[in-house]
Order: sequence, then structure tokens, then C-alpha cells
Amino acid sequence: MDQAVTLMKYAQANPAARETRVISVSSGKGGVGKTNSVVNLAIAFTRMGKRVLLLDADLGLGNLDVLLGLAPRYNIGHLLRGERNIKEVLADGPGGIKILPASSGVQELTSLSAEERLALASHLETLESEFDIMIIDTGAGISDNVLFFNMAAQEIMVVVTPEPTSITDAYALMKVLLHKHGERRFKLLVNEARNRKEGIEVYRKISLAAERFLSISVEYIGCVLLDENVQKSVARQKAVMELFPGSKACQCYEEIAREISEAPAEGALKGGMQFFWRQFLDRNI
Ligand SMILES: Nc1ncnc2c1ncn2[C@@H]1O[C@H](COP(=O)(O)OP(=O)(O)OP(=O)(O)O)[C@@H](O)[C@H]1O
Ligand SMILES: [Mg+2]
Repeated sequence: MDQAVTLMKYAQANPAARETRVISVSSGKGGVGKTNSVVNLAIAFTRMGKRVLLLDADLGLGNLDVLLGLAPRYNIGHLLRGERNIKEVLADGPGGIKILPASSGVQELTSLSAEERLALASHLETLESEFDIMIIDTGAGISDNVLFFNMAAQEIMVVVTPEPTSITDAYALMKVLLHKHGERRFKLLVNEARNRKEGIEVYRKISLAAERFLSISVEYIGCVLLDENVQKSVARQKAVMELFPGSKACQCYEEIAREISEAPAEGALKGGMQFFWRQFLDRNI
């Protein structure tokens, strides 16, 4: 059967429900703090009473579980090969967060096929009522998977550090998402800022360029200060929110989580877990 027809039937059988807020976290340049942001924001959200699912979407080279010292038995590869169901694959993280782990070193998953995307979407939708927020750690760069997860999410958060290469790569990511997929709204998190003023300066640089040359709006959602407790926690394979809850980085994660949860969810056209099929249909990817 024609793929569009299959997807349409699927969509009709699964009426839209917008319960889970879906936020993707990307960066352009690697190593800027996406995974730490995802994990620690997730813990901050759970402390606010929210049920959080983390999707490690760095599919072939995932390391969210490593950062947390977990050794999950199964990963997304088992799910997509039909060897395990979604409940079996979800791993328990700190503070009650659930994690869908990626595989590591599996070449086939570095670029998901249309069928695999649809399969993943239908598995995730079965969890719609169980989570308030799903955060997707997309991995770095502008690969097909990264672009796909960003356009599938309701809200796109770009992580950047004050380093010039990180700034140009963040800009490049937004430019590609605009030109290829029409994305016009981005949230910016400045990580490893030496102080709050530097966070705002980095934001200004990016938003000025984005407004002037791309005519897109970039929203500042705050900075996470450079804090050696983050590095210490990474070395001990624990989240800094667990090990050093009063540290300055943690205060920032808490502020950002509050900022996000107070802002209304975005994306009238992109809703909840039922996002994937819409993206297939609406944008013909
Ligand atoms: N706020 C911070 N203060 C100090 N160091 C930090 C901070 N955030 C991240 N780091 C350091 O940066 C390193 C990389 O962070 P992380 O793994 O979260 O980046 P990433 O963007 O997910 O990387 P990748 O692109 O490889 O997935 C961490 O191991 C940590 O040492
Ligand atoms: Mg990472």
C-alpha cells in the first residue's frame, strides 16, 4: 500500500492527543553539554512533579546511559528489531526518570528508515498518557536523524557555549532546519557561561544574526554556568543534580526547567507523542 495511505489510516486510528510535551535538544557542534542539560533538566522536572521520558536519539553512538552509570539490558535497536517491547526497553534513571537508551556502535541506526521512524513513533505513542515531558537528546551535527527529531519535536532547544565554533555551528543548525524544514522558532540555552552576562551576550550575538539573516526568532531560556561540579559528576557517572544539588549549575538547571514549564507548550501543528506521523504527512519527508 502507498505509504501516505498507510500513514493516513494510522493517523485516523490514533486521534491526536497533546498530552506529552516534546522537546528536542541539539547543538551543531558536539561536546557542548547537550546530554548533561537533558539529564539535569529532566531531574529538575521530576522534582517539580513531572513525569519525564528521555530519548537518547544519538542512535548509533548513544551515551546517555553511560553518563548516568547505567547498564541497560536493552536499547532502541531491540525495540526496532521487534525483539523487545517498549516497556522492556525503558531503563530507570535517577529521580524516577525513564530512559529509552540508544545503542552504541550500531551503524544501521545512524540513519533511520521511514519504516523505522514510523515504528518508533507508534511505540512512543503507547506511552502518551504516562509522561508529561519527553526530552530528546539528538546528538550533534546535522545528520538526517538530528533533523528528523528536531522537526518532529514541538520545541527545539539549541545548546551553545561561548566558544566561536559552537556559536557558528548552532547558527548553521538553525539555518539548515529553516531552509530544509521551515523551522522558525528556537530556544537557546547557553552552557558553560562564565557569568550570566556572558550568557546574554552569546544569546544576543546569535539572535541578532538569526533575525537579520534568517528572519527567525530565537528565544533565550537561560544559561548554565561553567561549574566544575558538572565535570566531577560526569567522572563519577552521576548527574550533578544528584551529587551537588546546591551547586551553581544546578540552580541554573532549576531556573531553566521552571522557565520552560511556565511557558505554554509551543507548536500548534506539532503535538505530543503523535508527532511523527504528522511530520510524515505534512512535510512529506
Ligand atoms: N555547565 C558545565 N560546566 C562545566 N563543564 C561542563 C558543563 N556542561 C558540560 N560540561 C562538560 O562538557 C562535557 C561534555 O558534555 P556533554 O556530554 O553533555 O556534551 P554533549 O553536547 O552531549 O556531547 P556530544 O555531542 O558528544 O553528545 C562534559 O563531560 C563536562 O565535562
Ligand atoms: Mg551527548
